Amino acid sequence: MFVSDSILLQRDKFLILMNFEHEIVWENAQVYEEVYKNSIKDPNEFWMRYVKDIAWKRVPNSAYDNEKKEWLFGGVTNVCYNCVDRHAAKTSEKTAIIWHGDEENERREISYAELQQMVIQIASILKSHGIKKNDVVGIYMPMTPEAVASMLACARIGAIHLVVFAGFSPEALKYRLTTSNAKALLTITSFRRGGKEIKLAKNIPSDFDIDVINLDNISFSNNAEAGIEWQTSEDNLFILYTSGSSGTPKGVLHSALPYMLYVATTFKVIFGIRRDDVYFCTSDIGWITGHSYITYAPLFHGLTTVIFSGSPTYPQADRYWKIIEQEKVSIFYTAPTAIRSLQMFNKKLVKKHDLSSLRVLGTVGEPINKSAWKWYFETVGNKKCPIMDTWWQTETGGIILAPLRNLEQTPGVAGKPFFGVETDIIDGELVIKNKFPGLYKAIVHEHTTPDDALYKTGDGAVYQGTDVKIKGRMDDVINISGHRLGTAEFECAINKVSEVKESAVVAIPDELKGQTAFAYVVLTSPLERNDFAEIVKKIVNSTRNNIGSIAKPDYIVFVPDLPKTRSGKIVRKLLRNLANGGENLPELHSVINSEVIKILKVSVKNPIFCPDMCKLK
Ligand code: PRX
Repeated sequence: MFVSDSILLQRDKFLILMNFEHEIVWENAQVYEEVYKNSIKDPNEFWMRYVKDIAWKRVPNSAYDNEKKEWLFGGVTNVCYNCVDRHAAKTSEKTAIIWHGDEENERREISYAELQQMVIQIASILKSHGIKKNDVVGIYMPMTPEAVASMLACARIGAIHLVVFAGFSPEALKYRLTTSNAKALLTITSFRRGGKEIKLAKNIPSDFDIDVINLDNISFSNNAEAGIEWQTSEDNLFILYTSGSSGTPKGVLHSALPYMLYVATTFKVIFGIRRDDVYFCTSDIGWITGHSYITYAPLFHGLTTVIFSGSPTYPQADRYWKIIEQEKVSIFYTAPTAIRSLQMFNKKLVKKHDLSSLRVLGTVGEPINKSAWKWYFETVGNKKCPIMDTWWQTETGGIILAPLRNLEQTPGVAGKPFFGVETDIIDGELVIKNKFPGLYKAIVHEHTTPDDALYKTGDGAVYQGTDVKIKGRMDDVINISGHRLGTAEFECAINKVSEVKESAVVAIPDELKGQTAFAYVVLTSPLERNDFAEIVKKIVNSTRNNIGSIAKPDYIVFVPDLPKTRSGKIVRKLLRNLANGGENLPELHSVINSEVIKILKVSVKNPIFCPDMCKLK
């Protein structure tokens, strides 16, 4: 029987003791330090232990080849083979995926043998459409077993998948598929979420020349064939777009085998997995968490992964708790925004469900505030489960910082670097100083690769003792409900409204969403006060159509001009400062039109709250 217990060390410091079934590589901070130091000194030794978890066709000589500067050089295998086929051969009846749909009675269970059939069927369809190794295939689907199988089908034939979150707009979809040169798009006609029908096929631009493969009526049979394309250390698995530090979307390319090693190992060690775990991650395959920790890591280890395509609050705000109770979920991984929004409902909605199967809780995507941490720890975890506040990014492929088990936990402090990853804080920014297998390979259409010397994360951080506390982005990225969006994406959409001359968008804190967008808008000609509602609506619609419904500015101020430098650059730091209520304004000397600052200082105090304005008509 699994035992865990929590000890309150002092105000806001917890020690959660956990017993794990296998492979305790450390049981206290001292042992962690030792294992960590050795993993940095000799990464090969550390990673070779986990290279053994992979089923190889040809085993690599070492984890990292210093000469070739490559992970797993010489190794040959296939990601799909490791996540599906080897389990279908040994534990064919074991449940690979449990799916819960929008309505409470919608449930499917897919065994490893059935998942294999599904994957082979989709892979053979892709082949019949001429898709070959290294071709890019778009996936625009809701959270279904078929979506997961589509990713694995690409991996099986060596194609590179490009998942586009189903909430992204036609424009965002087209941009991603075009800039990555995608050959085909896997999709379905429609799905239901929160009781509403979402017509996905309608979002595919009609003038868009791409081979659209609709998986609505796919049937799975034993007859389909699609052989495995063996992958080497040089092969790639997927491209996923995220918002870059310049604020525009960038396509992050990940390798196949080193990525698999990294996500499988971090998952195994950080969550301390057991063979009989039922694991539920509430992310979406449209984000990196859905790639690494819904699809690849849990299936690699042959666990049961629960996926949910509905809304956490439909028909009632207890869907997560209901699923945990029904499926006896043991590891639950979600985002702080979800916790904060569910925390607002009556505790009874949690307490009426038996959540005693839970033993590890995780969060990801944004800093978690103390109150949400405590509610998660006490109300959901019943003070028994550690909270793995995991910090990482699309670029890192897998988790970099986590409190790590049997070490002290402080709410809101992500904690310690994973073994083999050397982190540091330089000029207030979290950086990674060494090579690790999860790091991305390239940004596709910028044709750039990571800097050899140092990976700069773009996140501000401070040490709290020996732990790292993340403060948030230092660049032009806005993190709304854990969704990473660039200010330039917003501005581009806002500037498409014909009455808008220019705009600047900055992030401000939001109690529920973590951050939200605050837009300064300059119009081409002055408006009467009562005409603003129409423009606000146009702006909100334009962001929705060009990015997706997750991206709306919540606040707008109409201003006569934006502060600029001599070379015409908008002084964003000043705008950020003003929107965040700052009184000490930096860089004033560089602003050439300083007369506008006085006006900004006044108007910033009375922004239009868009949700209210949009309700007016
Ligand atoms: O700012 C950090 C924040 O999310 C950013 C990465 O976003 P994305 O690439 O979309 O990946 C999200 C899922 C891994 C980071 O630069 N972030 C992520 N996790 C945390 C976090 N901020 C604070 N604490 C976290 N645990």
